[in-house]
Amino acid sequence: MARVALVTGGMGGLGEAICIKMAALGYQVVTTHSPGNTKAAEWLSSMEQQGFNFRAYPCDVADFDSAQACITKITEEIGPVDVLVNNAGITRDMTFKKMDKVNWDAVIRTNLDSVFNMTKPVCDGMADRGWGRIINISSVNGQKGAFGQTNYSAAKAGMHGFTKALALEVARKGVTVNTISPGYIGTKMVMAIPKEVLDSKIIPQIPMGRLGKPEEVAGLVAYLASDEAAFLTGANIAINGGQHMY
Ligand code: CAA
Ligand code: NAP
Repeated sequence: MARVALVTGGMGGLGEAICIKMAALGYQVVTTHSPGNTKAAEWLSSMEQQGFNFRAYPCDVADFDSAQACITKITEEIGPVDVLVNNAGITRDMTFKKMDKVNWDAVIRTNLDSVFNMTKPVCDGMADRGWGRIINISSVNGQKGAFGQTNYSAAKAGMHGFTKALALEVARKGVTVNTISPGYIGTKMVMAIPKEVLDSKIIPQIPMGRLGKPEEVAGLVAYLASDEAAFLTGANIAINGGQHMY
């Protein structure tokens, strides 16, 4: 039977590429979308026209009860989750001077609390079955910090602390836990950056001189999910065109 891969935020730029890659490798791909996403059905049918049989469930990853209910439904209707990709995330960029509690909390809850909310209901099952993969999508900005992102950098750095601690706890149970830290990838999250900031401050810091492609990150997710990657755990893998060296 096909392994079940759950990709949160699979309708976004990176998430969609991850879903497509995992489906191509034979996984049963399940994704989540925000409960208020009115374009979910349209996305699913466009994917179906391209030959992908994805399943999608509404879930507010920032909310523990919503995450729990979503995993229960997936387990009942499809089967236990073998690969969890914690990909859903948001930015609310502003200098610390302008940062209020609402925008701090929104980013911490969606990017960091979500990792607890989604991992908690699947991790014990993976350990009991003796196989599992948890892949957390962090960011180069969690590794090096970024102007205007105290909230996001804190959440993304926190994800990797979680990765390392949980990796230790489940290392002997056939479950690996890893972080991927992408640099700037050409999705709508990056397109929201003012063009002059992107051109004058960010692209010059990328030795390859270009944005990454979602497919390049998806390939790394696929490797971490594979049986070949069984000895790789607790790592934070940078994929950023060399930006981490700046
Ligand atoms: N580095 C250094 N200085 C910067 C800067 C940067 N990255 N971004 C802005 N500044 C400077 C500006 O040049 C400006 O300087 P002066 O006052 O000397 O002219 C000063 O900061 C204030 O900038 P703004 O007028 O733009 O201030 P603002 O309050 O309107 O906006 C901001 C500030 C929200 C941080 C805006 O500049 C911005 O959106 N920056 C981009 C932030 C960013 O890189 N986000 C990444 C999003 S993608 C992502 O997060 C994915 C991922 O994981 C990689
Ligand atoms: P994106 O296109 O904006 O997609 C983000 C996804 O997250 C959307 O599908 C969105 O679903 C989902 N989401 C947001 N809040 C949610 C919530 N509360 N509950 C459920 N789903 C929620 O962004 P992206 O560029 O693909 O980013 C994906 C991940 O990669 C994020 O964690 C991001 O921080 C990380 N990352 C991105 C880059 C980059 O350069 N793009 C670099 C490094 C790391 P709905 O549309 O249904 O709300």
